[in-house]
Order: sequence, then C-alpha cells, then structure tokens
Amino acid sequence: MEKKNLDWGNLGFAYHVTDYRYVSMFQNGAWDDGALITDDKIVMSEDAGVLHYSQSVFEGLKAYETEDGHIVCFRPDLNASRMADSAARLEMPAFPEDRFVDAVVETVRANAAWVPPYGSGATLYVRPMMFGISPVIGVKPADDYMFRIFVTPVGPYFKGGAKPIYVRVSDFDRAAPRGTGHIKAGLNYAMSLHAIVDAHKKGFAENIYLDPGTRTRIEETGGANIIFVDADGNLVIPASTSILPSITRRSIHYVAENYLGLKVTEREVTLQEVKEGNFVECGLCGTAAVISPVGMINDHGEDIAFPSGMEKMGPTMQKLYDTLTGIQMGRIEAPEGWIVRIM
Ligand code: PLP
Ligand code: COI
Repeated sequence: MEKKNLDWGNLGFAYHVTDYRYVSMFQNGAWDDGALITDDKIVMSEDAGVLHYSQSVFEGLKAYETEDGHIVCFRPDLNASRMADSAARLEMPAFPEDRFVDAVVETVRANAAWVPPYGSGATLYVRPMMFGISPVIGVKPADDYMFRIFVTPVGPYFKGGAKPIYVRVSDFDRAAPRGTGHIKAGLNYAMSLHAIVDAHKKGFAENIYLDPGTRTRIEETGGANIIFVDADGNLVIPASTSILPSITRRSIHYVAENYLGLKVTEREVTLQEVKEGNFVECGLCGTAAVISPVGMINDHGEDIAFPSGMEKMGPTMQKLYDTLTGIQMGRIEAPEGWIVRIM
C-alpha cells in the first residue's frame, strides 16, 4: 500500500479530508448496519437537534504505524465505553461498544494510506462522533442519530512539539458542579472557545480551569487532563467529578505504577499548593496532547515556574512520555488488551 504524499514531519493538528468515513444511522429505534462511504459532507434538516440544542458527543483516539510496520490503535474499547456514558447523559442511544471498535478498525484500515509513517512524529487521529439529526423544536432529545467516524493525519497539538508550554489560570469555567464536564460533549468545548481565543491573544497555550464550585482546585485544561510530579518524584493526579476521565491519564497512572515503580496519588489539588511549590513538574495529557510539559502557569499576572523550566521536559515526564509512546508504537510490550492490531 502506497502512502499519501504528505509532508508528514511538518503536519499541524489540522483536518484533512481523507478517503473513507464510517456512517451508521439510528432510525425507528434501531441502528442500521453501517457502512464506509466516501462523501465527507452531511445533509440534514435545518431543525436537526444538534443544531439547536447541541445534542452531540464525540471521541478522539489515534492509530499508529509501529516499529515493525503494523498499524494499531490504542485502547479503543475505552473510547467506546466513554462514548456510551456521554450518550446516556445527553439522552442519546449508545452505539454498541463492540461495533464501535469494529468500526474504528474498519475506518482506519480503509484509510491506511493516510497513517503517518513510523518515526515521522505524526499519527492518524480518529474522530468518532454522534449527534441528533432529526427535527426538534421543543427542548427534547432527537428521535434519529448519526454515528460517524472520520480520520485525519495530525502532528503535535501544541506548536513546538514537546517544548514546555506556558498556560494560564482561567477566569471562565468549562463545566458546572453537576453539569457535563465528565463527558465528551461538544457543548463543553463551545464553553471553552472564548477562553482559548483570549488565552492565545495573550500568549498562553491553554487555560487551566478551576473547580466550578469553589474555584480553589485544579481541574483540567480545555483539551487535556493535568498531571504533577511532587518533590519526591511521585505522580499526583487531580481528582474531580467534573473533568473528563482521560484514557491517556488512566494509562499513565498504570504505566507510572507498573512500569516505572512510581507512587501515584489521585486527590484534590489546590491552586494554593501549586503556588507554594509542592510540584517540580507539570504536564498536560490526552490523545491530542500526548504528554505536553507545562513550564510555567500564570495566575492573574503571577508566574508559577516549575523547576523543570521552559527548555525541556522534566525527567519524570520524559520517562512517562517515552514509556507511553513506546507502548503505543510497539517498542515496549503493552499490557494485555491495550493495543488493537488493525493490519
Ligand atoms: N480532557 C479534555 C477536556 C479533553 O478534550 C481530552 C481529550 O480527549 C482529554 C481530557 C484527554 O482525554 P483522552 O486521554 O481520553 O484523550
Ligand atoms: C483529544 O485529545 O482527542 C481531544 O479530543 C482533545 C481536543 C482538544 C482535540
């Protein structure tokens, strides 16, 4: 199979129209058989539920070419179950989890020519999505839904790749205390758009959101969970009921304990203790972010600098990064069930 002629080493995190996408429709109370199609456009009613009441959930995972030339993806079963949780919260029918994994495999296989070559620094981003497509005018769930998966080759989420980033504490909230922060709904990202545009204008790569109830605890950023390393070299992960349960973060937790022998604590983390210098390293983690080191946090004009600095990743983040990406790209043996071979 011949790869597409792209400048793989210089891809940004951007959308390319690729050859095939998977579509299944929920109509008359059931999912149809689904199929790969080539048309990247969607035609729908001007009154589709998604357009008015934002009934939309999505997922993000990646496919990789491994060192020995296979194509694999990472823990798609967890995306399937998280999407089912997201759908339930928005009163949508879940797409069957086994069919979700099969559809990811089928879509990536059909677009194999778009999977960036091993070692290029790029990967194939897989975007499953589901939304209400039938008309609704009173506030209620739609009757019909489209489930769809497309893929796009991507480079690093943050410019500069693995260089530490500068982020700020946001005055806006992305979630509500008993809202939808824990699911992957498009509406959470709508909430964050003004804040991210404003952050970028002011020179920050991302926003750190505080817990919306008390605004004293660290939650996550607009597109990634946050992890810290304390002075003893152990991993501290902020716990909250209003953050997205990141699959990358759950994997890092396991890798830190079982591959690197670190102590891992998931607990509430206050902004105050970050200011007091309790942590020597900080990073953002997610499918798109992988592990992106944070060099400095700005809190209303006050800089909180981590000893790891703005030049390179700190030593513990680097070990976590090397181990996680080593597992994803087939250089390090994965825990049972983490890697799904596509071809
Ligand atoms: N938090 C938010 C708000 C996200 O959008 C993402 C991306 O999916 C993550 C965390 C990381 O989750 P995952 O590691 O499952 O990609
Ligand atoms: C992902 O990491 O998959 C996400 O959905 C984050 C998004 C900001 C691109």
